[in-house]
Amino acid sequence: MRVLGIETSCDETGIAIFDDQRGILSHQLYSQVKLHADYGGVVPELASRDHVRKTIPLIQAALKEAGLGKEDIDGIAYTAGPGLVGALLVGATIGRSLAMAWGKPAVAVHHMEGHLLAPMLEESAPEFPFVALLVSGGHSMLVRVDGIGRYQVLGESIDDAAGEAFDKTAKLMGLDYPGGPLLSRLAEKGTPSRFVFPRPMTDRPGLDMSFSGLKTFAANTIAAEGSDEQTRADIAHAFQAAVVDTLAIKCRRALKETGLKRLVVAGGVSANHYLRAQLAEMMQDLGGEVFYPRTEYCTDNGAMIAYAGMQRLKAGVFETLEVKAVPRWPLDTLDPV
Ligand code: KG4
Ligand code: ZN
Repeated sequence: MRVLGIETSCDETGIAIFDDQRGILSHQLYSQVKLHADYGGVVPELASRDHVRKTIPLIQAALKEAGLGKEDIDGIAYTAGPGLVGALLVGATIGRSLAMAWGKPAVAVHHMEGHLLAPMLEESAPEFPFVALLVSGGHSMLVRVDGIGRYQVLGESIDDAAGEAFDKTAKLMGLDYPGGPLLSRLAEKGTPSRFVFPRPMTDRPGLDMSFSGLKTFAANTIAAEGSDEQTRADIAHAFQAAVVDTLAIKCRRALKETGLKRLVVAGGVSANHYLRAQLAEMMQDLGGEVFYPRTEYCTDNGAMIAYAGMQRLKAGVFETLEVKAVPRWPLDTLDPV
């Protein structure tokens, strides 16, 4: 069985073809980063218009890369939410319409389920059950995963997502959009422990998180200490250490509460080297295992959508002719497969 995956929920057009015997056959990605950089963040209307320009050519490129025609595709999976509604509508409309024209089923995929299942595309895939830490630009959450569609949200950010906190802090430090990876690179030159930022909400029980105070802490530190190159790097280091430490404390707590030993980390921030190193050390200490997607499947992509869609199509789940776009869509409302 082969599924075409379409991802257009934010600022990346991602198209991939997943084959249940051979894995990913093609993977096409177009990032709109340059388009939004001048504005310091994603401009939803520009994002939608660019998806209109890129989605069909990338689908053609994906078919060509895999050496396949439309008759070789058994179903189409598109991201239906959560995300920017205009951007979602582009992928959803194209996916739904192509499926109708080709006489194939279409399935609506939850973007965060896509992230959560992305490590399944790796050779050493985790077995259920596990705890998933999902850290992207739009969401930060800890989820108990007992199977496909069996998700219990254990905790989430009550304000900014981890990636959003990286991007906002990077912006006030004068870094380009999206600043997460740039801030992380700057942090490598920082002096550890010159500044120590708080670890929000770790002094009370529970698995919810809060990251919006850290950017204020960074702004106040810049105001007090100046912003020469070394000070900026030191602030970046302190900020990153605070986010990563907070996430690690919450993961440790979630594993203890659930009694599970497997941790999956996915979403854009899971590409962060410091986070990976800290969690690897922690899991070694706990005698457990940590699983990540490869870097290119940490951030938004079509491969994870094709994979997640395949799981539902195989179980006979598909949509009516409705074009489904759901900007807000709680992960724990999905049906188990
Ligand atoms: O999953 P993703 O591509 O999009 C959403 O679903 O939101 O995540 C993008 C987020 C951005 O906030 C970006 O700055 C962050 O992931 N990010 C990183 C790194 N790479 C991407 N944050 C910190 N360190 C990184 N290396
Ligand atoms: Zn994402």
